[in-house]
Amino acid sequence: MKPSWNRREWLKSVGAFAAGTALASPALKRIMKEPLDDPLDRPFPSLDRPLTAIIAGAGNRGNTYAGYSLKFPLDLKIVGFAEPIPFRRNRFAQKYGIDLRNQFTTWEEIFKVPKFADVIIITTPDHLHYGPAMEALKMGYDILLEKPIAQTWQQCTDIMNLASKKKSIVAICHVLRYAPFFRKIKEVIDSGLLGRLVSVQLMEPVEHIHMSHSFVRGNWRNTAESNPMLLAKSCHDLDLLYWLIGKPCRRVSSFGSLTWFTKEHAPTGSTARCTDGCAAEKECPYSALKIYYQRRTWLHHFDLPAEGDQGPTILHLLQTGPYGRCVYHCDNDVVDHQVVMLEFDEAITAAFSMEAFTSYGGRRIRIMGSMGDIVGDENDLIATNFKTDEVIRSNVKEYASLVSGHGGGDYGLVRDFLRAVSEREPKQLLTTVQEAMESHLIGFRAEESRIEGRIVGVRA
Ligand SMILES: NC(=O)c1ccc[n+]([C@@H]2O[C@H](COP(=O)([O-])OP(=O)(O)OC[C@H]3O[C@@H](n4cnc5c(N)ncnc54)[C@H](O)[C@@H]3O)[C@@H](O)[C@H]2O)c1
Repeated sequence: MKPSWNRREWLKSVGAFAAGTALASPALKRIMKEPLDDPLDRPFPSLDRPLTAIIAGAGNRGNTYAGYSLKFPLDLKIVGFAEPIPFRRNRFAQKYGIDLRNQFTTWEEIFKVPKFADVIIITTPDHLHYGPAMEALKMGYDILLEKPIAQTWQQCTDIMNLASKKKSIVAICHVLRYAPFFRKIKEVIDSGLLGRLVSVQLMEPVEHIHMSHSFVRGNWRNTAESNPMLLAKSCHDLDLLYWLIGKPCRRVSSFGSLTWFTKEHAPTGSTARCTDGCAAEKECPYSALKIYYQRRTWLHHFDLPAEGDQGPTILHLLQTGPYGRCVYHCDNDVVDHQVVMLEFDEAITAAFSMEAFTSYGGRRIRIMGSMGDIVGDENDLIATNFKTDEVIRSNVKEYASLVSGHGGGDYGLVRDFLRAVSEREPKQLLTTVQEAMESHLIGFRAEESRIEGRIVGVRA
């Protein structure tokens, strides 16, 4: 078990707590390298039984969170679920040993029977968050709810208000707040060692194949079926900016569009599917045959047999399912590049950029303070002390154990959620629905700005 550090006391002891304190470079070096306390190592109240959970939507994320119960069976037990796809339903039921009467086809059925678990984990597609969240709250469930909260600001507000009225604990899966890389940056900013925070730049390089998989062919391609890109993908980034800066956002402006993945850019001889004998397939970077069949990448939304040759099933899914479609002949409408300019209280500025056309993933961040800066890429952090010119480097592996997805964030969030529920204490959570409202508000306002072509006051 890693030592647990009391950051505030330690910073006081080295005389570096107040913002603007002169840079003590040993303190900066220590904070950059020091192990982070791990939510999975913190004492967990011993319960006389594990908390019980129902999963709504046994897809990729549903299985991720359910996986926690296999690793920590004393904390969590999955006792029911809803999933319309028979293949996924059978696989999930077997893996978690779910009683037949607690296996449902759609989320609505969960609420036709009396409450039978402590919590519900909502991992349905974006347009199916509002319905199950509202029903679950009415029945007194606490909720782990995937982001984005819902599809409109009004729906988000309804969920938050009902959660407050019912005193339910609702955690939103902003898992990056739990990722050690961003927690380390937050520590450094909050220590005051960078002086006064002046500005932040954050870039999300989506990576071009990821873009084609999720936002052209896949689940998040279409605003009506999911959300605008800023909410569907980048609400994590807006949440990170708000959390790291720690102040309300005043104004936003945004530009962006869908420029490339449209019918006008379809190469001559292209066909509706890559498997239809497309004349451009061999040279196309987005060839579904290359991505899914030859390289066997990006298969986490494919329902494949666990054993034997998966090739024939992949080919069949490419001929019949969404992922075999030509990227220039889809029903996508979400942007492939977008920038957002943000002004926070105390004149702190931020610039965010979501980019589809990169060869790499992994967020890039630059924090600018009056006495120092940080540059990072989700692995390496480089801090510079302006007074001494000292440059301190650290890597996420030096200060964290990474036991789950999103740099260890996934299970950290689940653990804090369970702790908050068992102690009836939402303060245990970094990402309550109340806290997540700010990034969603920024997202909806920025989208207004992009569409209407004007600067928008966040609370106007
Ligand atoms: N926190 C994160 O970093 C993160 C990452 C990826 C996705 N997400 C969010 O998680 C959610 C799920 O994404 P995913 O990647 O797991 O998608 P997915 O498609 O793999 O899983 C969703 C599941 O819900 C099921 N479903 C559809 N209709 C249903 C209904 N009426 N009742 C019950 N289940 C139903 C689908 O069949 C599917 O199995 C989305 O809201 C997405 O935006 C969050």
